[in-house]
Amino acid sequence: MQDWSAIEGLERTTLTELFANDPDRLGKLTLDVGGIHFDWAKTHLDDAAITAFTGLCTTMELAAKREALFDGAAINTTEGRAATHTAERGVGNEDDVARARGFQARMRAVIDAIEADAFGPVRHILHVGIGGSALGPDLIFDALGRDEDRYDVAIVSNVDGVAMEEAVKRFDPQATLLVVASKTFTTTETMLNAASAMAWMAEGGVEDPYGRVIALTAAPDKAVEWGVDETRVLPFSDSVGGRYSLWSSIGFPFALALGFDAYAELLEGAAIMDRHFRDAEPAANAPVLAAFADLYYSQVVGCETRATFAYDERLRLLPSYLQQLEMESNGKSVTAAGEPLSRNSAPITWGGVGTDAQHAVFQLLHQGTRIVPLEFVAVIEAGDTLDPGHHRQLLLNAFAQGAALMAGKANADPARAYAGDRPSSTLLLNDLDARTLGALIAFYEQRTFVNAVLIGINPFDQFGVELGKEMAKAADAGGQTFDASTNDLLTRAGLA
Ligand code: F6P
Repeated sequence: MQDWSAIEGLERTTLTELFANDPDRLGKLTLDVGGIHFDWAKTHLDDAAITAFTGLCTTMELAAKREALFDGAAINTTEGRAATHTAERGVGNEDDVARARGFQARMRAVIDAIEADAFGPVRHILHVGIGGSALGPDLIFDALGRDEDRYDVAIVSNVDGVAMEEAVKRFDPQATLLVVASKTFTTTETMLNAASAMAWMAEGGVEDPYGRVIALTAAPDKAVEWGVDETRVLPFSDSVGGRYSLWSSIGFPFALALGFDAYAELLEGAAIMDRHFRDAEPAANAPVLAAFADLYYSQVVGCETRATFAYDERLRLLPSYLQQLEMESNGKSVTAAGEPLSRNSAPITWGGVGTDAQHAVFQLLHQGTRIVPLEFVAVIEAGDTLDPGHHRQLLLNAFAQGAALMAGKANADPARAYAGDRPSSTLLLNDLDARTLGALIAFYEQRTFVNAVLIGINPFDQFGVELGKEMAKAADAGGQTFDASTNDLLTRAGLA
């Protein structure tokens, strides 16, 4: 049974006082794991809070649930299956790891064949997929693939034909490899985008468009039924959730474009974070401490949102990636046992890139009435080769924002005063390479898991997305009436 009384009874102290009261604050609230320095010193966590949350870990059986995750037990109770994404990076039970390795070997063989020209010329990779079948590959490729010049890669997710048209405009259909990524191989957006891409290839003179398709899916039979030759279907386990799937064959486009070694490094970075999460005590465990801070603000202070600002252009897609990971995982109203949730589920995740966001949304963060716990993500090594002044300014701004939010500034004119005491945490990566990025993403996955366990929900299902899909299908089929507003909109748009 959840008991939050110890946490809710915590004394409220300002951040400045917390620093003044504990000379070892930095030692207790910073950690280095997998090439990432984590700093929670500018949050309101202190010894008492960590002790209280550690007690909650005990009552909510975090250690046993973590073990069940790594053991491949059926912890996704509503769907009766395991969540084996860690096995993709080699941390899990032997059978799951062996199965993942088998699928990865198959992916490698296809990559080798493409590189050996067995598929004819390939200069462009057109990846269609949505949600977890797009956001992960997009994030990785945008972060690590900027200097890639062997392949042009386009990731099309939106069903809006504008997205597809824009992507194919710059591609030669005869030199394009179509990658259809869908765990279920039934998702309307992806199947329509895949069909349009096939039509574009056929119109562009490709004699056998099916011969230019690679399918990434946990439903290989459906891909074969759709027309993809079995040898070009790269399967992955059904127990790998969509938003946790970039480690599986869904990672094919970046493994092809950046090389299999980069993909292996990404997995190894994630494995470093997994082993740390599995083995470290709560007070020295990065995903656990981060979840303590999340829960303190969302459950105790009552913050409705939390925001991540990437102070690195290469990580500009991180906030959208995190939105699916955190909101699809932890935006639930019932516990894992199906009881109504007595607490808040996840806060709204949002964010942007620094320094752009400073000139757009930071006014509210410094002076608005709502407290938003912030997370700054920055990289010590610059990604550019211009005047080092660029990167210097980027980092100075990231660190200055955290300091300003905390310190505030008095002013006789209230419009010019800053209350301060606004929390932030900082993730400082040594470098943005495949290994560190793998560790970073695994950190976020495990933090999401800890949040779920401590509020008592199942982070691995997503029934909330079904109803809207069903209603769109019903509207498409016609013959069904909806509410007056929806009927009117359908009629006005010529869809009824
Ligand atoms: O609509 C939500 C969702 O099911 C996500 O969980 C998933 O990542 C996405 O759709 C795409 O699903 P699929 O990979 O099966 O096409």
